[in-house]
Amino acid sequence: MPTSDDVDAFLTETLVGSDPALDAALRAQHDAGMPAIEVAPVNAKFLHLLARIAGARRVLEIGTLGAYSTIWLARAVGAHGRVVTIEAEPANAAVARANLERAGVAERVDILLGRGTDVLPTLDGGDPFDLVFIDADKESNTRYLDWAARLGRPGTVVVLDNVVRGGEVADAGTADSKVQGARRGVEMLGSDPRFDATALQTLDRKGWDGIAVAIIVDPTPGGTG
Ligand code: DHB
Ligand code: MG
Repeated sequence: MPTSDDVDAFLTETLVGSDPALDAALRAQHDAGMPAIEVAPVNAKFLHLLARIAGARRVLEIGTLGAYSTIWLARAVGAHGRVVTIEAEPANAAVARANLERAGVAERVDILLGRGTDVLPTLDGGDPFDLVFIDADKESNTRYLDWAARLGRPGTVVVLDNVVRGGEVADAGTADSKVQGARRGVEMLGSDPRFDATALQTLDRKGWDGIAVAIIVDPTPGGTG
């Protein structure tokens, strides 16, 4: 009986394939001793396709790590698009920068160094983002979602990673702060009138997890949604 890893391998080989720049990015991330917690290839491509479907030209990413997902997003926005990505760890940002350069997309990406909660207020007043991908410290999920709503516009796509955490999200009494963050993020997406959202469970080489996908709506009477 095939396993979910066999299915992941089949889907990845068939639909994603391998790519020298992405392979090199993951090698560089590994060689730098960074954790292999980037999104799985099938999910990275899902994110890339969402950005293309939305026609996104301005993308915000919170949590760069080694820029694996950033490369996918940068390819989605095209040569005239922009990806702003926030990374708290300077060593990660250096690896990310080199990976973006190797992938040929560095000129369309701004890496902003610092914690999301410090950097996000500096983006206030700029052009709205068309897609926001939140994949950083899970404890800050609700603050990041609030910033996504403020820095987006009605129609902006918001994607939140790691909302299932091996199923633990269903445990209301969890003591794990990352799971609590995942749970609060989902609860906010369900209750905050600025979002219309759902979530999908995922089972891939990283195990059992999930991604929430939302659209920002205008909560005022007569607004969109
Ligand atoms: C963790 C973070 C992630 O963004 C992820 O995709 C998987 C795991 C973590 O911090 O444990
Ligand atoms: Mg993640």
